[in-house]
Amino acid sequence: MNLNNKTIIVVGGAGRIGRAIVGALVQADANVVVADVDESGLDSVAAEYGARVMCQTLDVSDATAIRQLLSDAEQRFGSVDGAVNTAYPRNARYGAKFYEVTYDDFCENVSRHVGAYFLFMQQCAQYALHSKQPFSLVNFSSIYGVMAPRFDVYEGLPMTMPVEYAAVKAGLQHLTSYATAYTKGTRFRVNCVSPGGILAGQNPDFLARYNAHCREKGMLDAEDIVGSVLYLLSSDSAYVCGQNIVIDDGFSVG
Ligand SMILES: NC(=O)c1ccc[n+]([C@@H]2O[C@H](COP(=O)([O-])OP(=O)(O)OC[C@H]3O[C@@H](n4cnc5c(N)ncnc54)[C@H](O)[C@@H]3O)[C@@H](O)[C@H]2O)c1
Repeated sequence: MNLNNKTIIVVGGAGRIGRAIVGALVQADANVVVADVDESGLDSVAAEYGARVMCQTLDVSDATAIRQLLSDAEQRFGSVDGAVNTAYPRNARYGAKFYEVTYDDFCENVSRHVGAYFLFMQQCAQYALHSKQPFSLVNFSSIYGVMAPRFDVYEGLPMTMPVEYAAVKAGLQHLTSYATAYTKGTRFRVNCVSPGGILAGQNPDFLARYNAHCREKGMLDAEDIVGSVLYLLSSDSAYVCGQNIVIDDGFSVG
């Protein structure tokens, strides 16, 4: 995929999936702006890619900081053509099982996560009102925004599929439709990708149960997600608007 001369912001770019997207964008010759709240993570991205990327600290719940980032990126590269939001905001108690989740934690985790995606989408759409070229945003949802969890894969393990995540990721897909409808007539478009689980040293029993629902590879690596993201950022997808691409080796249908 050729993204030569396009400038793309990756929010959460120091994270597992964000970092894989940064690598693919560098390979595709894009100008890459890596934004994350994790400063040491940004340092390691900067150490890996050097002058090929621009790294900037960002808390994506801060509208002024987002506007500053868009402006700094435009000043450095001349324009901003797209962005990917892979942020995963959550509090220290996130990940509790359904009966243990408190009202306060539910509200905090939902509002932090959905709020971060709402705000970034709003700011990018507003930026695009004044830009000369099209702007493509990719939001990160999940298969768990599409389907009910298969709780049997977590049986006997401390991990679960958090209830906040279901609310957040389903909501994000509808927010993507909302923003698509609202921004009709502008140069802004937005789509979602919905990965299945990503390999990260998970428990082997869990993996075996998960993989049994898949077609070929089973749980995917972060690098398996990037092709769809680059497609949505490129002009090849110019008329793809408000959609959701599921990337899960068939887990959600198997
Ligand atoms: N890993 C998976 O299995 C998986 C599967 C489906 C969807 N997703 C989604 O993909 C996205 C990325 O997941 P990941 O596994 O790479 O997560 P990750 O935790 O490895 O990375 C997320 C990044 O977001 C950053 N971040 C958190 N809060 C922020 C804030 N307020 N402002 C800016 N940056 C912030 C973190 O510092 C981190 O670098 C998330 O939205 C996640 O829900 C992940």
